[in-house]
Amino acid sequence: MSAHPSQQGAGAPSNIFERVRHCAASVTRYPLDILTRDAQLEDELGIDSVKLAEIAAVVAREFNLPPDRLPRGGKAPTLGAIAGLVTQVLGESPVALAPVAPAAPVHAATESGKRVSAGPDLESRVRAVFARVTRYPEDLLTLHADLEDELGIDSVKQAEVMAVLMKELGLSEGPKPAQRLRTMAAICEAARALLPSAEPVPSAPVGRPVHVMAAPLPSRLDLPFAGKVALVTGSGKGIGKVIATRLARAGATVVVNSFHSRDDGEKTARDIVESGGKALHLWGSVANEEHLERMFSELGEKLGGLDFLVCNASNGLIGPFDRISPRDWDKAFRTCITGTYECAMRARPLMAARGGGGIVTMSTSMSQRYMHDLGCQGVVKAGVESLTRYLAAELAPDGIRTNCVSAGPVHGDLLGMFPDAPDRVARWEAATPGGRLCTADDVADVTELLLGPKTQRVNGAIWVVDAGLSGTVDGLLPAARPS
Ligand SMILES: NC(=O)c1ccc[n+]([C@@H]2O[C@H](COP(=O)([O-])OP(=O)(O)OC[C@H]3O[C@@H](n4cnc5c(N)ncnc54)[C@H](OP(=O)(O)O)[C@@H]3O)[C@@H](O)[C@H]2O)c1
Repeated sequence: MSAHPSQQGAGAPSNIFERVRHCAASVTRYPLDILTRDAQLEDELGIDSVKLAEIAAVVAREFNLPPDRLPRGGKAPTLGAIAGLVTQVLGESPVALAPVAPAAPVHAATESGKRVSAGPDLESRVRAVFARVTRYPEDLLTLHADLEDELGIDSVKQAEVMAVLMKELGLSEGPKPAQRLRTMAAICEAARALLPSAEPVPSAPVGRPVHVMAAPLPSRLDLPFAGKVALVTGSGKGIGKVIATRLARAGATVVVNSFHSRDDGEKTARDIVESGGKALHLWGSVANEEHLERMFSELGEKLGGLDFLVCNASNGLIGPFDRISPRDWDKAFRTCITGTYECAMRARPLMAARGGGGIVTMSTSMSQRYMHDLGCQGVVKAGVESLTRYLAAELAPDGIRTNCVSAGPVHGDLLGMFPDAPDRVARWEAATPGGRLCTADDVADVTELLLGPKTQRVNGAIWVVDAGLSGTVDGLLPAARPS
């Protein structure tokens, strides 16, 4: 019986391992000493499925591996395992050393208004959208490869691609949810059936943009948070980035934290500094105790203490219950609940030493209601709300207030991950009294208020910021399916 590749990894020749390690470093830009043989690439190093696929592609090119032997997926959870798989392929297949076949030419997207006249046009278009959203090299994206099992494109990313694709093809309705499209070829077939045969296909995205942008803020003369230090977890992008930027504008020195999106975290801290604020970037997972140990000791050493903590980091799968695996539950729980708890308990002595502080946790208003596809987040965030009340009581003797912002759908990347996103957003807007969903700035407004001096007697509160959506009954259920 042959050994599992991860075991073989331990015995892979060190020159192969070193080459693999350099491939990983070139993709992730991580320092080499972090990239150890046995660290779990996803759980310990925060390298997501997109980056893992990029590493697999670079390794394949480095060793001339055939496309069907890419070192990826469950068999390659560590660099040692990848090196083991490479050693195995090189040992058993001289073909592996032959140059990789050149990529099939990919045609440019059709210009706005042109018809998708023949099959290959649509295929190129679908492939180009996949490449753009996943940032995979196009030669990896073969039409018949299984998106999840072979290409490592998880359901969340697939939903994101589908949302972009539908906009790009001008389709208001996607394939039926029950239709499990496992390959790009299947997606092309389903799209072809939905496209009016002689309709022009616009190339530019249609519909309103839903990107989170930190609105340019007027410079403030009053700096209510001058001299304060704030840590915002998961703040390289999205709502966390807007909160971090706002706290910096209010005078705080902000610790920006990122995990899967290290570049974004570094950039957010750089942007704050370049616009005259004070910021430090700390990379690490809130779900990993060793990372937290390192982050909080660096924070203490460099900044001398902490006044505010915003537990914004979150990692919950979006999809119906039959798509949520035990691993997804575990990841969501460890990030949102254990991560919030661990951050709060590590923040406690740093805040207590300064006479107190403020913590804001982040929930969703759908923790108290049903929203289709939000089960994993909703259930775990209900726990975050409960944790908030318990922290409020237990940390109050140290002068620490803990409150929660429970947001409704906020325009931004996360909403784009919902299947049939444009349709849903339109329904949610229609169901929101006033007709407009919240923005990241609305969430930042309330966060700032809860941390500031005007809410000194507010503790253990869950403040819903959803423009009234959760008070209505429409908009939360899936669209009626045709009978
Ligand atoms: N957007 C909405 O509509 C909405 C609605 C209600 C509530 N919320 C809540 O608001 C918060 C922000 O949401 P969002 O939409 O901006 O983005 P999100 O997709 O929920 O991402 C949250 C952030 O968490 C970070 N993160 C994930 N795993 C992490 C880990 N292990 N350690 C450290 N950071 C980690 C991500 O950064 P990396 O990529 O660097 O890991 C990202 O910056 C979340 O708590 C979310 O649940 C959002």
